[in-house]
Amino acid sequence: MAQIFEGWTETVGKPTLASNARMSARGVDVFYGDKQAIFGVDLDIGKNQVLAMIGPSGCGKSTFLRTLNRMNDTIDICQIKGEIKLDEENIYGKKMDVVNLRARVGMVFQKPNPFPKSIYDNVAYGPRIHGLVTRKAELDEVVETALRKASIWDEVKDRLDQPATGLSGGQQQRLCIARTIAVSPEVILMDEPCSALDPIATARIEELITELAENYTIAIVTHSMQQAARVSQRTAYFHLGRLVEVGDTDKIFTAPEHRLTEDYITGRFG
Ligand SMILES: Nc1ncnc2c1ncn2[C@@H]1O[C@H](COP(=O)(O)OP(=O)(O)OP(=O)(O)O)[C@@H](O)[C@H]1O
Ligand SMILES: [Mg+2]
Repeated sequence: MAQIFEGWTETVGKPTLASNARMSARGVDVFYGDKQAIFGVDLDIGKNQVLAMIGPSGCGKSTFLRTLNRMNDTIDICQIKGEIKLDEENIYGKKMDVVNLRARVGMVFQKPNPFPKSIYDNVAYGPRIHGLVTRKAELDEVVETALRKASIWDEVKDRLDQPATGLSGGQQQRLCIARTIAVSPEVILMDEPCSALDPIATARIEELITELAENYTIAIVTHSMQQAARVSQRTAYFHLGRLVEVGDTDKIFTAPEHRLTEDYITGRFG
């Protein structure tokens, strides 16, 4: 294969999984207008696993993550080629209901973005619009369960009717995670979910990610290699829109095969 930029020819490691893939991307290209941001990415995300995506700023991590729940559809000039499946279903297929897809593949953003509503209504929003519950008592239970799973229940249980915007940044991010899990997603995408948080709030979110991984499939973009090492089982290293290397997190951080991966994790660039 021809060398595309210095030091890169094709993905090193095992981007695809023999079994247990929850989502799979094949030959994914992403363009913004005529500028290509992602080049021919093949990558599986394993069931009940945490996949970390790392790489220098601008390498396409957020762009790729957004292809997984069609969040790029909201960007006019963005075009996607290739195939992405959730289990056996093509998420770009004609039959796919995008609103339903985004409930099944939920997303947590870098900056906590609670709705200007009460704490309760933030979490109840998804179950309401998706018609998951009919009775108030059921909704109360869904809200409580989601807040408990996001380990924020004790902090908010006495002020559920107060505005979510009155919470601290770390609390808002856990509330956004509760909002995401309230609709029982299958996959959770997180784009630098801790970058606006202090070390204590970060540690809580990391614990939460580890707990959630027991029941959910998670893909997380992070600039913190310590965080990737703590929370993920597999790590994917992106560089200039290419997936350079993917493998077990332990191996990527102790014995990367590709020089570009090694340069990045040892802090030579990025
Ligand atoms: N809405 C957009 N319109 C045009 N180009 C975009 C848009 N979003 C991203 N890009 C371009 O796509 C490329 C990849 O950007 P992306 O945001 O995916 O990188 P990233 O790896 O998430 O970076 P960071 O670590 O800084 O968040 C960059 O060249 C960027 O300029
Ligand atoms: Mg990004």
